[in-house]
Amino acid sequence: MARKQIAKANDPISAQPRFHQRAREIQPYGTVSHALPLELEEPVRLEMTEQLNQLLADTMTLRDLYKKFHWQVAGPTFYQLHLLFDKHYEEQVELVDSIAERIQTLGGISIAVAADVAETTQIERPPRGREEVPVQLSRLLDAHQVIIRETRKLARRASELQDDGTNDLVVSEVLRRNELQVWFLSEHLVDVPLVKAEEPSVTARVA
Ligand SMILES: [Fe+2]
Repeated sequence: MARKQIAKANDPISAQPRFHQRAREIQPYGTVSHALPLELEEPVRLEMTEQLNQLLADTMTLRDLYKKFHWQVAGPTFYQLHLLFDKHYEEQVELVDSIAERIQTLGGISIAVAADVAETTQIERPPRGREEVPVQLSRLLDAHQVIIRETRKLARRASELQDDGTNDLVVSEVLRRNELQVWFLSEHLVDVPLVKAEEPSVTARVA
């Protein structure tokens, strides 16, 4: 009886799922697959995928910062920032997918899991605990600044190498979205009165 069951499991056609499988990689990280009819030479695709992976790691880190702060925000602006952080999170999720799929389109391999992202990102790691709103906003703005700097550099290099698709993605989607999010965040750091307008000072009135 037991032998019959084993024989069934080894049958080429079987309803038994094959669990716990491992095998060698079909493409190592840091390489690009050959013979894609994209009219982009291998060295170009190698350089672009390497730089796009840096941008991907930083974008994934910023995405996760938004979710962290969406959960951990505190204070009188809790509700509006809770919603804003989640909106920006969703937009960063879309950027992550666009960047990762550009890497795959170029024949490369996108980094994907948290451990690889943590090893690669240039964005400062925040503490596990909760921080005040101005610190959360500052961390987000610093992360955007890192990304904006690298998008401009990457866009120029893509243009030099005639990788117009990467240039377009980086400028039209990544750079513009990050610039807009910077504006939305920065306005929360302008110190204006909430209820009572400040009286002009005597010296200001004389002047
Ligand atoms: Fe939520």
